[in-house]
Amino acid sequence: MGIKIRGTGSYAPDKVLTNADLEKMVETNDEWIRTRTGICQRHISAPEQACSDLAEQAARRALDMAGVAPEELSAIIVATITPDHVFPSTACLLQHRLGATKAFGFDLEAACSGLLFSLETARGLMSANAKYRYVLVIGSDKMSAVVNWEDRNTCVLFGDGASALLLENCPGEEDSFLASDLGVDGNSLEILSLPAGGSRNPASMETVENKMHYVHMAGRDVFKLAVNAMVSSCRKVLEEANVSIDQVRWLVPHQANERIMKAVAQRLPLEEERVFMNIGKYGNTSAASIGICLDEMKRADLINPGDYILLTAFGGGLTWGAILIRW
Ligand code: ACO
Repeated sequence: MGIKIRGTGSYAPDKVLTNADLEKMVETNDEWIRTRTGICQRHISAPEQACSDLAEQAARRALDMAGVAPEELSAIIVATITPDHVFPSTACLLQHRLGATKAFGFDLEAACSGLLFSLETARGLMSANAKYRYVLVIGSDKMSAVVNWEDRNTCVLFGDGASALLLENCPGEEDSFLASDLGVDGNSLEILSLPAGGSRNPASMETVENKMHYVHMAGRDVFKLAVNAMVSSCRKVLEEANVSIDQVRWLVPHQANERIMKAVAQRLPLEEERVFMNIGKYGNTSAASIGICLDEMKRADLINPGDYILLTAFGGGLTWGAILIRW
């Protein structure tokens, strides 16, 4: 069973928030943000735009590229930590919006690793049953809705965006997905979480007053864990697929911090020229980031058939992983 990526799409809202804009909101400066993170600007949704609105744009672009109609979709998986609602799922909303009349769907929550977890899930479904011909995998996050705009430790890092990958089940063809390694460690509430809004701390005056509906993060701890986990996962998938790091055309890491990405590349080791980075334009778009990279790369003709592409991510949960694909 060969599973291929037939279409890519991405979307970022029109409004751009630059580092200079942030200087007017919190005590920070362009130089600090650029040197510590590589971020120059991020896109911010309009108030009326929610996760599904970003996702819809990305989805339509991926379907257009592939020349596939929404009615042909078998399933829609939306990786997100900022769904429109607790329920119905963003995937349900999208099914209706797109007119994907034959698709089932669900949201998948694995923070910044969500796209990789969703790809693995889609691949499992499609390998198990050929009736799933086209599966749309989406990463969409409106991080601006869950960032405390008074906290300089976190607000400078994130941006909004969405990406979509359309997978096709092609019996008899070579599988594009060569190896994967995914992991979680639930002992991390202290270093990366959004504490309220779930059943542990339902929304109340107190949770709002205590700013518990925002991302809480111990950046330095996350930094170290992120580098170690991504390097380890990348090595595992290369070994499993019997592909050497020298054969990898592109490393496409989750765009959390330029220094994290460079540290991963240095340890693998792989030259920086082979690491795709667009964090400068978007900031950390959580589940969307890897798909936004792939879409930009595809549309700029940076990917050729047969290229080995190593995807890796890390996020809240903790969650992490790597997937090796052959385009
Ligand atoms: N502007 C100016 N100064 C700042 C800012 C800011 N925006 N933010 C923090 N500082 C200050 C701190 O207060 C601290 O000051 P102090 O020394 O007087 O206490 C100083 O800068 C250094 O802070 P550090 O935390 O040590 O800075 P560091 O070099 O670690 O960079 C950063 C911080 C960018 C957050 C980094 O640790 C990082 O990228 N961590 C990983 C984040 C990440 O990957 N998250 C992904 C998961 S998100 C998800 O899954 C939803």
